Amino acid sequence: MQIDIITLFPAMFEGVFNESILKRAQTKGHLQVNIHNLRDYSLDKHKSVDDYAFGGGAGMVIQIEPVANCLNALKEKINYDEIIYTAPDGEMLTQQLANDLSLKGNLCILCGHYKGIDERIREHLITKEISIGNYVLSGGELAAMVIADSVARLIPGVLNDEQSALSDSFQDNLIAPPVYSRPADYNGWKVPEVLLSGHEAKIEQWRYEQSLERTKQRRPDLLK
Ligand code: ADE
Repeated sequence: MQIDIITLFPAMFEGVFNESILKRAQTKGHLQVNIHNLRDYSLDKHKSVDDYAFGGGAGMVIQIEPVANCLNALKEKINYDEIIYTAPDGEMLTQQLANDLSLKGNLCILCGHYKGIDERIREHLITKEISIGNYVLSGGELAAMVIADSVARLIPGVLNDEQSALSDSFQDNLIAPPVYSRPADYNGWKVPEVLLSGHEAKIEQWRYEQSLERTKQRRPDLLK
């Protein structure tokens, strides 16, 4: 999978894609991430990409030309399955949406900023709009990172068996069960007996019951 990210703040992405699973996904050849600076596609000598809103009002608006120039240049080299815009009024990112996106070939993510982008970009150039939650971030960069991370770890081959995505919370609309490691007894705080029993079927059953109970308690909305 290739993920191209268009942003005004490329430096924000440096650490995120060079650590942990996102890094391994790239090293193993499952993922290629390219960060593109929108300013490089500006038409004027000041490299500006935004202008006042028609009709007045507060805030600058990202203009259509730099975005269209950037997307046209990228699309000459690659076909995208989705061109995503990060916005608080987009479709909510869920595990299901991450699963769906992980099965795609190539994604482009345009990070939103300032007061917004010219609506014609959303109408004509964007194929999907995604929100990562009901709150407003100062830019779409963090949202793009969240989307890329949640998708990349689901690309077949990225996780090894031990980290299998199948046991993740939300994967089957259940919260993951609690996990424990050594010591089995820390100053009287004990690990549940069943996990020490070596009885695989009982452990499996216990984990399922815990998942169900946790989901009922913490996220009953998932059981609907
Ligand atoms: N940009 C600003 N807030 C956002 C959000 N909640 N999700 C995605 N993009 C955003």
